Amino acid sequence: MSQTKKSILNANYVKLPGSYLFSDIAKRVQQYVSTHPDNQVIRLGIGDVTRPLAAVVIEAMHKAVDEMGSIASFRGYGPEQGYDFLRQAISEYDYANRNVAIALDEIFVSDGSKCDCGNITELFSNEAIVAVCDPVYPVYVDTNAMIGRAGEFDISEGKWTNLIYMPCVKENGFLPQLPSEDDSNKIPDLIYLCFPNNPSGTAIGFEDLKKWVDFANKNNSIILYDSAYEAFISENLPHSIFEIPGAKTCAIEFRSYSKTAGFTGTRCAYTVIPKELVRDGVSLNSMWNRRQTTKFNGTPYITQRGAEATYSEEGQKEIKETIAYYMKNAQIIRQGLIDCGFEVYGGVNAPYIWLKTPDGMTSWGFFDFLIEKAEVVGTPGSGFGPSGEGYFRLTSFGSLENTVKAIDRIKQKFQNIS
Ligand code: MLT
Repeated sequence: MSQTKKSILNANYVKLPGSYLFSDIAKRVQQYVSTHPDNQVIRLGIGDVTRPLAAVVIEAMHKAVDEMGSIASFRGYGPEQGYDFLRQAISEYDYANRNVAIALDEIFVSDGSKCDCGNITELFSNEAIVAVCDPVYPVYVDTNAMIGRAGEFDISEGKWTNLIYMPCVKENGFLPQLPSEDDSNKIPDLIYLCFPNNPSGTAIGFEDLKKWVDFANKNNSIILYDSAYEAFISENLPHSIFEIPGAKTCAIEFRSYSKTAGFTGTRCAYTVIPKELVRDGVSLNSMWNRRQTTKFNGTPYITQRGAEATYSEEGQKEIKETIAYYMKNAQIIRQGLIDCGFEVYGGVNAPYIWLKTPDGMTSWGFFDFLIEKAEVVGTPGSGFGPSGEGYFRLTSFGSLENTVKAIDRIKQKFQNIS
């Protein structure tokens, strides 16, 4: 008797198109480098930092390593939610200093915002309607697809059938518009917002963010707010969604030391879930606590001591100097591109510069052109969603020397494109 064999695989993974954006780019760059081994490619693609950790962070981590080597101060499993010394520093410096009261048990320290943004999807039903910006950090989309909430991938549209895409384009200043409330079945339950934005570098003001908080409270939606780039804000803008009245009943915030303090390789972040955030009588804070205590054994003590050191006077001084270094790069990229006649956005409150590709080139067409003609790597806008087509992202996380070199090369190729 012949039987159809059941599949034991998660079919949602099979539906995912291609590979993860940055793995795809790395593969293409590797291919180029292997065929041009003598050439010097400058990587301004993935937003990975290049400056070393602050001296006080290193000192704190060395001290923590020594503690681990002595029987009197050795530590085994730490609290899954993070040590109180770090949660206290977060509550005080990142929130109380901005007049926001966040209790220690509303803070969950982790090994990265990418993981938290992905893992948070577990708390919600597959019926939940998800809205994302377009273009968007691909992790929000792909992790919802992996869990089966995104529907099917429509190749012709470059979109998932069950997701609501909120175009962020030149015409709306790269800010998402509030979803329509006409059909209650189509109001998003989960809304991903990232400000300052990856990839467009756009920031949001207090009034605009308040509109989202009011919308979410009115419609029982939850905003998943990624503020990984808040340290790059140079103007008077909200650093946290909790600076907006009413946000505690409708938002979860993700924060990271990756870009703020150079921890992309060291791994430390945190997620804030206010106790007021309750749906169907259930506290999201308790759900996340249950999830973390079951699936996560905490961020290493040594790493958390390093993160704590970023809040010291010297730590703040050093990380601010590093951020200023990257923002100087951003300024060099912006100005260099403007001088060539490119249409340029971002780079003022964010480490990302978002540019319109010249002569109607596609994003991937420009990627190939730039690597071949200038040996500079960036990220194609279309990799972040269909509305990113015709755009391109450069990061300011390279060294000053390479940034200057990259812009000089681009200038030579694109002098006066307008
Ligand atoms: C990016 O380049 O968009 C970032 O590196 C992504 C990330 O933080 O994972």
